[in-house]
Amino acid sequence: MKAPRGTQDLLPGVSDKWQYVEGKLKELSNLYQYKEIRTPIFEHTELFERGVGDTTDIVQKEMYTFTDKGDRSITLRPEGTASVVRAFVQHKLFGSPSQPTKLFYIGPMFRYERPQQGRMRQFVQYGVEALGSADPAIDAEVISLAMNAYQSLGLKSLKLVINSLGDQESRENHRQALIDHFTPVKEELCSDCQTRLEQNPLRVLDCKKDRDHEAMATAPSILDYLNEESSQYFEKVQAYLDAMNISYIVDKNLVRGLDYYNHTAFEIMSDAQGFGAITTLSGGGRYNGLVQELGGPETPGIGFAMSIERLLMALEAEGVDLPIDERLDCYVISIGDEANIKAASIVNKLRESGIQVDKDYQGKKMKAQFKAADRLQAKFVLVLGEDELANNQIAVKNMDSGEQDTIELEQLNGYLQRLL
Ligand code: HAM
Repeated sequence: MKAPRGTQDLLPGVSDKWQYVEGKLKELSNLYQYKEIRTPIFEHTELFERGVGDTTDIVQKEMYTFTDKGDRSITLRPEGTASVVRAFVQHKLFGSPSQPTKLFYIGPMFRYERPQQGRMRQFVQYGVEALGSADPAIDAEVISLAMNAYQSLGLKSLKLVINSLGDQESRENHRQALIDHFTPVKEELCSDCQTRLEQNPLRVLDCKKDRDHEAMATAPSILDYLNEESSQYFEKVQAYLDAMNISYIVDKNLVRGLDYYNHTAFEIMSDAQGFGAITTLSGGGRYNGLVQELGGPETPGIGFAMSIERLLMALEAEGVDLPIDERLDCYVISIGDEANIKAASIVNKLRESGIQVDKDYQGKKMKAQFKAADRLQAKFVLVLGEDELANNQIAVKNMDSGEQDTIELEQLNGYLQRLL
């Protein structure tokens, strides 16, 4: 049997990289004061229909939706923002005195997409959400956190693209302009876009099939429809980014694939050679109406998410080696029943005092045990031979210097603690 298409097993060796990266992301979240939130992997389908938007590809084509035994429509979460906002409202986090509420999450998301390099049906997102502030400085903070996540892991070939989708009024005006622009060529667009034109014309700009249609290049830009307030907001976000020395490109065609966005939208791409066809590493933006849409008080919000899969692909493409310590501290070698029992108790004691140690469980000969220690790159090999056993001692070999010592068992702990 094989794992389903678009999923993967993370085996030892690879899972070490995941642990390292996830650890770094948690440290970074702490540095920026974002606290972890863990929400369920499945939610009521309605949450995503209302949150993500029922005209999006995610909701229309990509959700893992099923009816449970209680006849409820349940969906495996395709993204994290809707769930975080649902939890924010349900637990009244808006009532907490420390605002904005700054949250992060790491966990699996599910989308029924056509799998390819960098596109999975189950993938892991790290994301942050800041709820309760409409200060453009927090837009810049979120973007800086996203950039910092990649840079602190060693990535260099990054491109930050930003846009503004404006407020409600700006979007309404832009919407009408898009309808006027595309209606004369409606028949030439794909059937999805013909529907999008009626339901949500902004989505037409995001179409993969009609990307090269000539009407796309001349489509009205949202930036020309921003009202005074929206364009001032966008300018302030840019001023903060400038002040933080974060370089960016303004791309008026950046629209994002989820419906909840307004004002700031951004994506980070990899410029690295050999990264593959999908270059987007992460995406996010502001979603000021979402808390209210999901039943909470009017609360502004902004966040982003990245997949760990694509982050690891980018590290690979740029040849970044993660500083993962693969070496084992100690390996204990013993032969014979009596020595094996003693070895087990030594291993146990060392572990109790926090020393990383392993031993043989295959009944291997002495030479093969030494080989195993070599394979694990043990720093110290401890040998419990007949003489040592009889004298309550153990031979300790420093595998880097080749030095060998015979140590009283009582002093072994302290001896190793000093050297490791
Ligand atoms: P999104 O652009 O749909 O936004 O996804 C964010 C990131 O998740 C993408 O840039 C990519 O790294 C990763 N991703 C998405 N789909 C896949 C896939 N099929 N396979 C691998 N990686 C994938 C959101 O999900 C928003 N919730 C982000 C956000 C948070 N906006 C505000 N707050």
